[in-house]
Amino acid sequence: MTHRKFPPPVSVASQVTVLCTFFAVVFTLYLIPLTISSPCIMEKKDLGPKPALIGHRGAPMLAPEHTLMSFRKALEQKLYGLQADVTISLDGVPFLMHDSTLRRTTNVDQVFPELARRPAAMLNWTALQRLNAGQWFLKTDPFWTASSLSPSDYREVQNQSICSLADLLELAKGNATLLLNLRDPPRDHPYRGSFLNITLEAVLRSGFPQHQIMWLPNRQRPLVRKMAPGFQQTSGSKEAIASLRRGHIQKLNLRYTQVSRQELRDYASWNLSVNLYTVNTPWLFSLLWCAGVPSVTSDSPHTLSRVPSPLWIMPPDEYCLMWVTADLISFSLIIGIFVLQKWRLGGIRSYNPEQIMLSAAVRRSSRDVSIMKEKLIFSEISDGVEVSDELSGCSDSSYDTYANSTATPMGPRGGGSRAKTLADRAGR
Ligand SMILES: *[C@@H]1O[C@H](CO)[C@@H](O)[C@H](O)[C@H]1NC(C)=O
Ligand SMILES: *[C@@H]1O[C@H](CO)[C@@H](O)[C@H](O)[C@H]1NC(C)=O
Ligand SMILES: *[C@@H]1O[C@H](CO)[C@@H](O)[C@H](O)[C@H]1NC(C)=O
Ligand SMILES: *[C@@H]1O[C@H](CO)[C@@H](O)[C@H](O)[C@H]1NC(C)=O
Ligand SMILES: *[C@@H]1O[C@H](CO)[C@@H](O)[C@H](O)[C@H]1NC(C)=O
Repeated sequence: MTHRKFPPPVSVASQVTVLCTFFAVVFTLYLIPLTISSPCIMEKKDLGPKPALIGHRGAPMLAPEHTLMSFRKALEQKLYGLQADVTISLDGVPFLMHDSTLRRTTNVDQVFPELARRPAAMLNWTALQRLNAGQWFLKTDPFWTASSLSPSDYREVQNQSICSLADLLELAKGNATLLLNLRDPPRDHPYRGSFLNITLEAVLRSGFPQHQIMWLPNRQRPLVRKMAPGFQQTSGSKEAIASLRRGHIQKLNLRYTQVSRQELRDYASWNLSVNLYTVNTPWLFSLLWCAGVPSVTSDSPHTLSRVPSPLWIMPPDEYCLMWVTADLISFSLIIGIFVLQKWRLGGIRSYNPEQIMLSAAVRRSSRDVSIMKEKLIFSEISDGVEVSDELSGCSDSSYDTYANSTATPMGPRGGGSRAKTLADRAGR
């Protein structure tokens, strides 16, 4: 009688495929951390000074942008600088306004409904001063901060008006650097041609230290340099180094997404200071700090000024060690689970025959069970004959176990027949 080969439940080929795929995926996951590069994977001793902070239109989360209160709040944080957008009124007064119209940041719709859609520069200073530049902040709450204002700040916000350049210069003089951007008035504006001159003169007349002005407008730089040689000439766009040198540019003011780490290194080696905008979250601020950025413009300078060090910084070898350790632990866990599973299946050896048959019958397909039954009958026919030799060649461990147990001297008959009934019942 030929022994029928016991078919494994899953083919060996597909088991190997699954195993290989599994390990390929695990291996890939293990290698991914090596491809991650962060500026903050660096030695602590190489960390540069904290980037200087420039308040974007003041401290726009604590008070309405471009108001004296906003600039005062920013100065209270002892910031390096303040950023402001300058435009000019119909009667030639330079004042601070970002948008082309007044609708977002003033109550112009209520006070001058007929002028509301006109450019801000097309109103005279008398009219502009009648507008409230704070109530919108409480109404639209642009940064969800209105509810956290103290009662006195709340009252002060309600009382803000449009800020003139002269007022800002007076407030910031000697206390902070000013990053000035000019917003040209419309084509038919009476001061369109002299806007630059008037603004320059306002700055010079105020006695504001020239070296504390970062001058962004790209127009007529030679004239500006002649009138105000002390200004920090600042470019708002990336240009070739030769062109920057020709323009006597000392600083760059760029969006933080615009520069790579290599460019930052290049600019540093060319003695160009880079200011990046608009950086509001501590994690982004930390990354730029690690990358060696000299200064950033922020809507939340009050938060960033309290960041004492990058949120996360790790030396490269420590980073490597961390991943290798994590990989080793997880790999040991995987192997451990494999061994445990193998042991659990192989461990049936120590159970009694009833348990073996019951679990085998429950687990196996009906085809396997019928083969089991066949073997049981076979073992009864060849009662007394040593069957274990013939069966021990089979590699399947649970079958192996069964064969061994039927061959054990301790009650093979009784155990076998009881197991048969159980298997029959379960098989039906
Ligand atoms: C300023 O503009 C307002 C509104 O258009 C006007 O009523 C007023 O006469 C102007 N004042 C001067 C000095 O031009
Ligand atoms: C601010 O308050 C003063 C005095 O209480 C008042 O004269 C002025 O008009 C107010 N300004 C604004 C913009 O509400
Ligand atoms: C700003 O400067 C003025 C006078 O120039 C001074 O009284 C004030 O304390 C300074 N403020 C800050 C925050 O340094
Ligand atoms: C600006 O001022 C300079 C120097 O005062 C002068 O030479 C130039 O003509 C002025 N430009 C305009 C457009 O007013
Ligand atoms: C950069 O500036 C430093 C001091 O401000 C100066 O010593 C150095 O020569 C400058 N390097 C270049 C390439 O201009």
